[in-house]
Amino acid sequence: MAVKDYIDTNDFTKEELLDMIELANSMKAMIKQGNRYPRLLENKTLGMIFQQVSTRTRISFETAMTDLGGHAQFYGPGTIQLGGHESIEDSARVMGTLCDILMARVDRHKDVAALAKYSPCPVINGMSEFNHPTQEMGDLLTMIENLPEGKKIEDCKLAFIGDATQVCASLMFIASKMGMDFVQFGPKGHQITDGGLQVDTDVDLLAIGLKNCETSGGTITISDDISCIEGADFIYTDVWYGLYDQEEEGASYMDVFYPKYQVTMDMMNYAGPNSKFMHCLPATRGEEVVDEVIDNPERSLCWEEADNRKHSIRAILAYLFLQQQAGKQVDEAAADAAQARMEAVLAKIG
Ligand code: CP
Repeated sequence: MAVKDYIDTNDFTKEELLDMIELANSMKAMIKQGNRYPRLLENKTLGMIFQQVSTRTRISFETAMTDLGGHAQFYGPGTIQLGGHESIEDSARVMGTLCDILMARVDRHKDVAALAKYSPCPVINGMSEFNHPTQEMGDLLTMIENLPEGKKIEDCKLAFIGDATQVCASLMFIASKMGMDFVQFGPKGHQITDGGLQVDTDVDLLAIGLKNCETSGGTITISDDISCIEGADFIYTDVWYGLYDQEEEGASYMDVFYPKYQVTMDMMNYAGPNSKFMHCLPATRGEEVVDEVIDNPERSLCWEEADNRKHSIRAILAYLFLQQQAGKQVDEAAADAAQARMEAVLAKIG
């Protein structure tokens, strides 16, 4: 049965995820090369719930809806009733009827999961403390567009440097799903395996990745020894202080990560002479990455990666909505009769 919501890429098969990538890639080419906008969500409304700030995710969703002929509504912190006087379940039932599709960036993963469970329309996870699945698809699209010569995605090695953020966990999920070699090079206490990522869900992150590897043939390595990044095609990092309530004091996180886990040109070249740099952004220049790397036009993919948020989100929106519509019957006779009744009233008043 088709998956209604996009909460976690682990809910989808490799083939389904690659279908979304092909949809993203084809629509990107149609728009960039021919100025052709596929109006697949004409007259449809996306409700966007943000409990946290956002630049790339918010703008990508809103622009993608415009591109597809639809409209997006923004609900910032404190602007709608969600989990206070009105339960999340009741809000989901109402919002999922008023909108055609919902997305939510939430403080707690269980809240976006509850929205999906009770909403009649599809729900997309715009990031939680557990994962960032729309970032995963933008990153996968970027890697596929920048494959080393002669390699397929499953031949590639992706090394994440630093703290086990939700982006790190998400990259492990998508890399293991694709059959890639995934590495986290990070200090003990901040590794996926040792509780570095405190999630509000009872899950074993590594077990999910290893299960994906059983099907895909991928591998997962987690280490504080830099030799683990040798041969990496893609070097990826994220901020060192995490998000939400995991934030640490400045001095403390610099002591933990600096200088060993800062991405420098020496680190890039140690991985390989053609390794590419990626970052979900926003970056803290001078901490997890230096200017020489992030601004390097030959090695840095992060601006292309930010643009690909929009292209991949456009595909996720279209994929989920059209898949849900596929099973619905259209009753043209009933619609004709309703239109005739409407026109009769309009004739009477006008
Ligand atoms: N990478 C990312 O999600 O960026 P925003 O927080 O700006 O949306």
